[in-house]
Amino acid sequence: MQKYARMTGWGKYVPERILTNLDLEKMVDTSDEWIRTRTGIRERHIAAPGETCCTMSVAAAQQALAVAQIPASEIELIIVATSTPDYLVPSVASMVQDQLRATGAPAFGLRAGCTGWVYALVTACQFLQTGAYRNALVIGTEHLSFGVDWSDRSTCVLFGDGSGAVVLEASDQPTGLLAFDLGSEGSDYDALIFPAFGGANPASHEVIDRRLHYLKMDGRRVFKFATRVLADSVRKVVAASDLTPEDIELVIPHQANDRIIEMARRKLGLPPEKMMVNIDRYGNTSAASIPLALVDAIEEGRIEAGAHLVFVGFGAGLTWASAAFHWEPQEPSAIPVADWPIRDRLVQPVARARTALWSARVNLATRIEPLLLPLYSFAAGYKKRRKKADK
Ligand code: COA
Repeated sequence: MQKYARMTGWGKYVPERILTNLDLEKMVDTSDEWIRTRTGIRERHIAAPGETCCTMSVAAAQQALAVAQIPASEIELIIVATSTPDYLVPSVASMVQDQLRATGAPAFGLRAGCTGWVYALVTACQFLQTGAYRNALVIGTEHLSFGVDWSDRSTCVLFGDGSGAVVLEASDQPTGLLAFDLGSEGSDYDALIFPAFGGANPASHEVIDRRLHYLKMDGRRVFKFATRVLADSVRKVVAASDLTPEDIELVIPHQANDRIIEMARRKLGLPPEKMMVNIDRYGNTSAASIPLALVDAIEEGRIEAGAHLVFVGFGAGLTWASAAFHWEPQEPSAIPVADWPIRDRLVQPVARARTALWSARVNLATRIEPLLLPLYSFAAGYKKRRKKADK
């Protein structure tokens, strides 16, 4: 039977410490005015000592589980999208699984830069839609403050720390993920890069002296890429969902720069209220930014049951991803079958008929096979006897 993936829980966590643009003016040669007009950012949250990708993920996940009213012990899959895990190995997802006491649940990290959470969402939905798992926890977390060069004004003003998490549950109702568009342009892999977080530049005094352990970015290259893919990917995913841009209640884009978001909004011809923007409060929190914006939109009452949302991300890789999503967090019985679109009403009977045909074929074959066995042996013996006689 065709399954769907409903979003039933959501939560967020941001560190208590706030770093404002005015604070940054005291650290590097910048100004509140420059940061606001070029990026839309006013402040960002910065992790305290001891706060890490793992602790922030756990805090956001606990909220999401509470909203979904699912105990952690019943979670069947955990994916953490992040580029700033606690360790290169093991995956931070296993540490989160342990801290939540989600005993035995498969857990893995997913790295696709700022696009990571949308990749993770789509990945989790595949497991639910095939019936492999009944639920999943999808977390996007970033602890960028440890990887940012606080003496480089071209990057340090942009980023912040935080985490957002959602719970997905398998459903028979036609809801949740409607369509997705994932992509990457690896030829620009060096436009946004931590040069020394892997085998290309292993730890050495030279690596540290050259400050290769800090994030490097070619801002203009990323800007051009983002303004191109954001609107294109939203258009693609809306068309693939058999929807029109007018059907979309809210686009929730990656919060990298409000100029990028504004350009995409104009290209798409959407009114401002259909584009979620909260970059002023958090800066760019990479893989955490879309789930953080989702939770803020829910808290601000901007998402009603039955809404069509589009999540769209872009970032390191370079990568992009969008997902059209039907928002229906209520009990499955809340939508009477009679109200489903014709196409979705047909999906289940067709799937049931195909399964019935397949099992009838298998049943018949298992019954007939034993009856045919003597015939096969006789035919094989006959062939042998004919060969002998011919010789
Ligand atoms: N404060 C003041 N001046 C700054 C500054 C800062 N924090 N950072 C850079 N500048 C200066 C530059 O040195 C440059 O000075 P110059 O003209 O004397 O050389 C000037 O501002 C303009 O720099 P430029 O790079 O042209 O600015 P911009 O308009 O392209 O804006 C970004 C820079 C980073 C805001 C913009 O390129 C951007 O948002 N890019 C995308 C980044 C992104 O989204 N990354 C994450 C993707 S997930």
